[in-house]
Amino acid sequence: MKIVTVLGARPQFIKAAPVSRELRRVHEELIVHTGQHYDALMSDIFFDELGIPAPDATLHVGSASHGAQTARMLEGVEAVLLRERPDAVLVYGDTNSTLAGALAASKLGIAIVHVEAGLRSFVRHMPEEINRVLTDRLSDVCCCPSDVARANLAAEGLTKGVHVVGDVMLDALTETAARLQNEPLRVQALGVEPGSFVLATVHRAANTDDPARLRSIVDALGAVGGPVLWPIHPRARHAIRQQGVLLPANVRVVEPLGYFDLVSALTHARAAVTDSGGLQKEAYWLGIPCVTLRDETEWTETVASGWNVLVDADTERIVEALRIARRIDAPRTAYGTVGAAARVALAIEHELT
Ligand code: UD1
Repeated sequence: MKIVTVLGARPQFIKAAPVSRELRRVHEELIVHTGQHYDALMSDIFFDELGIPAPDATLHVGSASHGAQTARMLEGVEAVLLRERPDAVLVYGDTNSTLAGALAASKLGIAIVHVEAGLRSFVRHMPEEINRVLTDRLSDVCCCPSDVARANLAAEGLTKGVHVVGDVMLDALTETAARLQNEPLRVQALGVEPGSFVLATVHRAANTDDPARLRSIVDALGAVGGPVLWPIHPRARHAIRQQGVLLPANVRVVEPLGYFDLVSALTHARAAVTDSGGLQKEAYWLGIPCVTLRDETEWTETVASGWNVLVDADTERIVEALRIARRIDAPRTAYGTVGAAARVALAIEHELT
């Protein structure tokens, strides 16, 4: 089969690494990079580190309002699909690149594979939630990370072409963690001592673009009572500058990290505090307590198991959750076992050949 993979944002590069390798064992794969993330530290470094094949087409859409960004991607992806006439289009997760890829394929009657299907936060005003719901609705093959995701689809009447394959991010993480074991500790080069610090990431528009919430989060990081390492997403950096937020002395802001540095930092953190979806899962798999700066999460299993706690952007709740955060004796198996990428390939073969 000829498969076109559409990606464009940082977490999608990580997911594509193991999946592309599996697909290319038996299929022809072309990669279309929408250009949603374009900085070297948000994009190129992941292709280099993870050995992801270079994109066959790059659309350079860059930053814009959601509508304009998605529209440019839709037009660009459609042109590639008209030229290449693939048998299927594969998309990951919940970004604007995901929806644009799925929509372009659906308009041309091309089969759609959605990896990380069935996730729901049930918050309709989150752009990612709309992207998820619509992409699942359009997809012919829905690859779910968990039984909860499958049940979410069933509740919306989607049962055909649905497979629980596990989580492809676990494949990427397992491989990288094993590789890092044979290297000197990267985290020390980031200026923090292993086991002593909290790893922070903040990038959701709801947190960065609302001055009260951003201040509340930064105040909490300042009150943690120990070093905080904050690899900063461009959106957060921009918001901090624009809002004139002063960073507390214990908060060490660094450039966005590549995947190897990020995995090293998380592995040696005392706890993570984040609004990222991916980091909630990575912390869970590595056995690092996670404090999530949201009121809800689509990764409910991490919370149900006790490894993750939702604190919204409330200073006191964040500080208290980080104060008591510790490793617990609870299983971390909700997203299956390594091998999800191979199971994605099997699901595609089962449904589309
Ligand atoms: C996007 C996804 C989000 C995902 C995140 C991972 C959507 C709706 N959101 O959010 O689900 O968790 O990626 O990081 O698709 N910018 C740069 N350089 C870059 C990329 C972005 O400077 O390489 C800046 C731009 O000012 C841009 C802002 O960051 O406007 C936000 O980028 P965008 O891709 O629109 O959304 P993310 O917040 O990254």
